[in-house]
Parts: sequence; C-alpha cells; structure tokens
Amino acid sequence: MKIEIASRITKTDLLVLPFFAGEKPSTAQKSELESYAYPDFEAKPNEALLLYQKNKLAPRVLLIGLGEPEKALQDTWRQAGGTATKSIKKNIHSITLLPPKEDLYRLSAFIEGFLLGHYRYEDFLRDEKRRLPVIETLTIIIEDKKITQLLQEKIREIQVVIDAVKSVRDMVNSPSNVMNPGIFEHLGKLTAKNGFKIGCKILDEKKLKKLGMWCLYGVGQGAKERPRMIVLEYKYKPKNKRPIVLVGKGICFDSGGINLKTQMLEDMKLDMAGAATVLGIFKILGALRPELHVIGLMPLAENMPSGEAIKSGDILTAFNGITIEVVNTDAEGRLILADALSYGIKTYDPETIIDIATLTGAAITAFGYGITPFLTNSPALKEKIETAAQTTDEKMWELPLEKTYRKNLESPIADLLNSNPKAGASTIQGGLFLENFVGEKPWAHFDIAATAYIPEAKPYIPKGATGKHVRTLWELLKHYGD
Ligand code: BES
Ligand code: ZN
Ligand code: ZN
Repeated sequence: MKIEIASRITKTDLLVLPFFAGEKPSTAQKSELESYAYPDFEAKPNEALLLYQKNKLAPRVLLIGLGEPEKALQDTWRQAGGTATKSIKKNIHSITLLPPKEDLYRLSAFIEGFLLGHYRYEDFLRDEKRRLPVIETLTIIIEDKKITQLLQEKIREIQVVIDAVKSVRDMVNSPSNVMNPGIFEHLGKLTAKNGFKIGCKILDEKKLKKLGMWCLYGVGQGAKERPRMIVLEYKYKPKNKRPIVLVGKGICFDSGGINLKTQMLEDMKLDMAGAATVLGIFKILGALRPELHVIGLMPLAENMPSGEAIKSGDILTAFNGITIEVVNTDAEGRLILADALSYGIKTYDPETIIDIATLTGAAITAFGYGITPFLTNSPALKEKIETAAQTTDEKMWELPLEKTYRKNLESPIADLLNSNPKAGASTIQGGLFLENFVGEKPWAHFDIAATAYIPEAKPYIPKGATGKHVRTLWELLKHYGD
C-alpha cells in the first residue's frame, strides 16, 4: 500500500472523515458533506457510517466517530484507523483521509491503526472472494507544510514496523505443520540475508549437546522435527556499549508432552509467538538501521509425547549447570528459556536482557486478553517498558518477583522444580524460575500467553495472532539510550 500526502482531494474511491462528537466538521470536511444529512450519526468512538454519492470526486464517504474531543486519546485515533479499514470492500482501491485536525501524533496513530486493521491470514484461502481487498493508496490531506514533512518521515517507520507486526501474525497463525523449527530456521536466515548488518548463527542439536543445553535439547527430543536455536546479531555504530539480548520462546507446537494437554490443543501453534516477535524486531532493525547492538535468541522445539520424549520426573541440566526436576513436561517454555537466557548472559555479557514468552495460562485468568503481565529485577528497565507501552497502547502490568515464593521451586533431588502446582501464582512462579538464569543482569520477562493470540477481534487487531509487543519493543529499543 502506498501512503501519500496531498494538500487537496483528488479522485478517490473512498473519502474517510473522522469526527468528534458534538463538534462541527472542519471547513474542508464541510464542503465534502454539503449534500448529506446524517442526523443519526453520533460520532461515538468507532461508530462508522458509509454514505454514497453520484458524480463526485469521492463516490463514497465514510464517517468515523472519535467520541468526545476531551476524552480522545492517541489510541482512539488508532482504533478509528482500524474501524475505517474494516469498512473497505473489494472495489475500493484508493482511500483519502480528511482529518478534522492536523496533528502529527494523531495522524500517525490513525495510519498505524489503518494498516494494523488491514490484515487477514490467507495462506490457505483458495477463494479469491475470501481474501482481503487490495488497497493501492492511502492519501492524507494536509495543508501544513511542517506537519507534511514530519509525517512523511514517520510514514516509512510506521510501514516497516507494521509490516513486521503482520509478519509475526502470519508466523503465529501458520499451523505447526508449516511453521516448524526447520521453516523457522529458514526464515531466520532469510531475515539476516535481507536485513542490514544482521548475522545469523544456528545452534543445531549436535551443538546444543556439545554446549550442554540439555533443557532445550530435552524439550525437543521427543519430536521428529529437531530442536535448535537461532542466534541473530544486529550491530551498527552502537550507542550501547554492551548488547541488548532479546529471547523469544519458540515452541512450534505445545502438546504438553507426556503431561499431555486436554484443552486448547488446536491453539498451541501459538507457542512460538515470543520467537516470532524477536524475529519481527530484527526485520525492523535490518530495515531502519538504528545505532544499536542487539542479539536475538530463538530457542525452537516441538513439545511432543513419544518414546523418545522426556518423562515427568526426569532431571535436566541447564547451560549454566543448574539441575531441574521436570515435574510437569507442560511447563516446557521456562526450560528452553533457561538455556537461552544463561547462554545469552554468558556469551554476550549484555547490558539488558528481555525474554518474551507465551508462558502461563494463568496470565489469561488474571489479566484477560488485553493486558500483558511482566516481571523484572530492574526498576530502570521497568520504567523504560512502561513508557514504551504507554506510547504504543499495548497495555502491560508489573507482577512482583516475590522472594518468599522462591522456596516453592525447591526440589528435594535437584536444584529446582520446573513447577509447583500447589503453590498457585503460576505467572509469578514462571518469572521466579527464570530469575535463576539471569544472575544480576537487568532483566525483564513478558508473559504474552493471553495477548499473543486472542479469541475475538478488536478494532485494529484481528482474531487470532496479534503481533503484540513488536511495537513496544521497538519503541523501547529506539529510545534505549535516551
Ligand atoms: N504454552 C503454555 C501456556 C499457554 C496456555 C499459552 C494457554 C497460551 C495459552 C505453557 O507451556 C504451559 O503449558 N503452561 C502451563 C504451566 C504449568 C504446567 C505450570 C500452564 O499455564 O498451565
Ligand atoms: Zn506447556
Ligand atoms: Zn508452552
């Protein structure tokens, strides 16, 4: 989709007019609306009304509500953008936006929402009619020269970031017979090849054994498709002295293993969303070339039951030597992260390490599908995360790394248990387990079990994979040195 800025309306298939409740249309909007009456349109947030007219520059006009002006937030504009895309039919190819106010941040948010909302996972849809309409151009009408220039610069960043979000959605929506560790490896290499200053290294199963990553190896040992780890490195005139390491859980299918799941199995292709998010971030780094040094670690495996699989009660040794009693083979995410985090710390001595993982079903119970819990050992990192998440409106909430709960993970026969069903607080337990593998380094853990994949669509997020937190992590990286 091409995004352009123009100072006057020319021929377009659809004209989009966002409106505040209780406010008169702007002068420019008014002249487009002369021949209409729309007495029932209240301009409530996300209210949409499509009007048709003959022989005009714009044969269709779409009114979009923004609610009361004093209540409108940046996300109101993002949502309005998403609502606008939803109204688009097959024969609409060019769209023009005539905003009520010329404001860089609001217009950026509208464009973000518009692009984010225009998504469908269609790899397996054979019927053309079921595919997403192709939008060729979105034209924004702006008169102010300064805003035009600033928005022009911003548009490229928005397009790169939203393309990355969509690529994450595609990966997570892809079924596990397509998106397996082998295909993921291929996509990792491709991202490195197509991006600026990205190196790629694969730790295959032989290497995992040699390095002593027995947790990642163990989780993947029962599957035909073999476990492995992708290591990506982006380095360009870095502002940060030591790297930032991002780690993403990459379980391409989580059956639970020998502790076989009984619920939501058909959704468990989602369990590589963390790794997909990290790959998405590297697409952005490789395109936007920020002055940073970032490492991406994507431990990949399928958690399957078989004659070769790890069994409940087995003991595994992690990369840093810690021994773990696997009381539940379904708590596998923390095992592969244990190896990846300790490998990241030892190999790169990072300034900051962040992991992103669909770790616990309890995140859904506690927060629903709209808020991501996170845990961190660093107040400074917490602030960075919260600032970034506020900008992107990807809601996050900190949970405590409660010290007195540490004893719940003590094992009588090993250093750690991988879970303790009697202790409750499963999301916190996950964080406390991971804390053992990061030492004193500033670290944060995002539990995206609820927010990576949702059962019902939101204004600019379709049902299924959301691609959430690509935007937040990018925002955090972009302002890392500030
Ligand atoms: N991949 C799941 C978590 C999950 C559940 C993600 C639902 C998305 C939706 C994870 O590996 C898991 O099975 N966690 C267990 C942990 C428990 C055994 C300690 C859980 O949450 O039940
Ligand atoms: Zn599991
Ligand atoms: Zn899992």
